[in-house]
Amino acid sequence: MKDKVHILAIESSCDDTSAAVLENLKVKSNIISSQNVHQKYGGVVPELASRDHEKNIGWLVDLSLKEAGIDLKEIDAIAVTQGPGLLGSLIVGVNFAKSLAMAIERPIIAVNHMEAHVLAHFIDDPRIHQGLRFPFLALTVSGGHTQLYLWESDVQYTILGQTLDDAAGEAFDKIAKLLGLPYPGGPMIDRLSQKGNAGKFSFPHPKVEDFHFSFSGLKTAVLYFLQDKTKDDPDFISRNLHDIAASVQKTIVDILLSEVEKAIAHTGIRQWVICGGVSANSLLRSEALLLAQKTKTEVFMLPLEYTTDNAAMIGAAAWFKYKRGLFSPLSFAAKARL
Ligand code: KG4
Ligand code: ZN
Repeated sequence: MKDKVHILAIESSCDDTSAAVLENLKVKSNIISSQNVHQKYGGVVPELASRDHEKNIGWLVDLSLKEAGIDLKEIDAIAVTQGPGLLGSLIVGVNFAKSLAMAIERPIIAVNHMEAHVLAHFIDDPRIHQGLRFPFLALTVSGGHTQLYLWESDVQYTILGQTLDDAAGEAFDKIAKLLGLPYPGGPMIDRLSQKGNAGKFSFPHPKVEDFHFSFSGLKTAVLYFLQDKTKDDPDFISRNLHDIAASVQKTIVDILLSEVEKAIAHTGIRQWVICGGVSANSLLRSEALLLAQKTKTEVFMLPLEYTTDNAAMIGAAAWFKYKRGLFSPLSFAAKARL
């Protein structure tokens, strides 16, 4: 294998279009364009997302090469998100990547988006602590997923538990909507919580099997709580917004980390990572550090630009496959579920 492998990576699974160039695990460029056409609809509108990806993918790829200072001829492989995600959005990225791979006669590598969120921890960047080794535990928390994995190697992992209903990000977003906040609600709840008292209101924890999660009960509890409180006091939400946000955030973080703590005790594994969009949450990050201290384990969390959807993580996951010669046939299809 060459000592310097250049991979051009493309991500278009949801509402961010992104292109990146990596030299092995070093990020030479990582351009992300976040779609804001969805904000006024209170959630991602799939058809609008596909159209936006289609409009932006060409110039994003051009810019990522330019910023990396790498010519298309020097690219050794094209990596692209195969799924999971919105099918129409994935197809835009996959078809673009396939055409490019054919045009420059290079192999294509189909990447699982959720695996990429985890393998992003191996990106070679001075801001990322380089001490992570297999096996480790991974908590993957995004708008569509909440899973706890045991990763044994770059190609071998098992799911210890997952959400039985809503994902953690979905819980943040749906509860934010109940509070009248715009989409995506997660970052808004995070921001409002900074000035709130998390002990002011208490919400129930789900009763589920070890390592599993459930958030739909919390959403319903918040809905009934708000209906009850606003019956005689229409201004209840606006007067208590910070405290409600902080109490909800604390509950979600406690639910997530209590399962991680159980998994640490059960497996005896000393290293763990948190990834996906919700790992940007400031309380989750600070409580994770406390849990690591308490359990004498080591937690790894990424700089914010690598927590939400980005193509650099797709390139990192692809590098592991490149090393193993795991290329994809041009006939592979985008998949909403993987
Ligand atoms: O991984 P991601 O960017 O996209 C998916 O693959 O879903 O995750 C997006 C999710 C959204 O639900 C968003 O509300 C949530 O991550 N999120 C946050 C924060 N930043 C993003 N949730 C809580 N606190 C945050 N700071
Ligand atoms: Zn994601």
